[in-house]
Amino acid sequence: MAIRGIVLAGGKGTRLGELTRVTNKHLLPVGPVPMVYHPIQKIVGAGIKEVLLVSGTEHMGDFVELLGSGKDHKCSLTYRVQDEAGGIAQALGLAETYCAGNRCLVILGDNIFHASVKPMLDEADKHPDWAWVGLKQVPDPGRYGVAELKGHQVVGIEEKPKQPKSDYAVVGVYIYPADVFQVIKTLKPSGRGELEITDVNNYYLKAGRLGHSKIEGYWTDAGTLDSLAFANQLVNESPPVF
Ligand code: G1P
Repeated sequence: MAIRGIVLAGGKGTRLGELTRVTNKHLLPVGPVPMVYHPIQKIVGAGIKEVLLVSGTEHMGDFVELLGSGKDHKCSLTYRVQDEAGGIAQALGLAETYCAGNRCLVILGDNIFHASVKPMLDEADKHPDWAWVGLKQVPDPGRYGVAELKGHQVVGIEEKPKQPKSDYAVVGVYIYPADVFQVIKTLKPSGRGELEITDVNNYYLKAGRLGHSKIEGYWTDAGTLDSLAFANQLVNESPPVF
């Protein structure tokens, strides 16, 4: 069974204010390159050459102009339009025909981190019918999906909890088996009106099919003014490994 790469680069980027008034968040610079280069290079660095990029109608033309066929990134790129922003899980659902029964490695387009994803993929390969998430200790877990741990085991994940049960964020790097698309079809919109990736992960947790890896090195999202500045600082100080 093969594995496909998916970059989710939609959303309105409202948390970035004026910076995303006329452009897409993932086209803003992080280090010397547009943000979206980072997830693409991570996927290609893990040995995956087939990559799907999902974004909204407004800026898809810019992505195509920037990335083309993917040949400069040593991958074959396919594009899929998300007509309306409906959450990460909804965007992932659009990849069903593209994945065609294969597993997928999904990276949120605004996640910036130092290490290669290859070690996580190698761990996940031991359980190809499981979902796999990455965990990272952060100072502000309430901004993210947060894992509750008992010893080494994840026993629950909460999306943006007011009282986080740990400081382990569930980062925006996920590996899913082919049945993820059936799981997505069972989801209901959350309080923020989105199909939540955390609900997908909790499905696999309850089914006893969720694994996790700890992410080495720095990790941050880049979806707010502060975190975008921080991502730039991290990347400039220590360029990511692919
Ligand atoms: C999303 C996910 C969250 C995850 C985060 C990582 O949050 O919902 O579980 O921890 O990405 O960047 P959002 O960017 O939609 O607030």
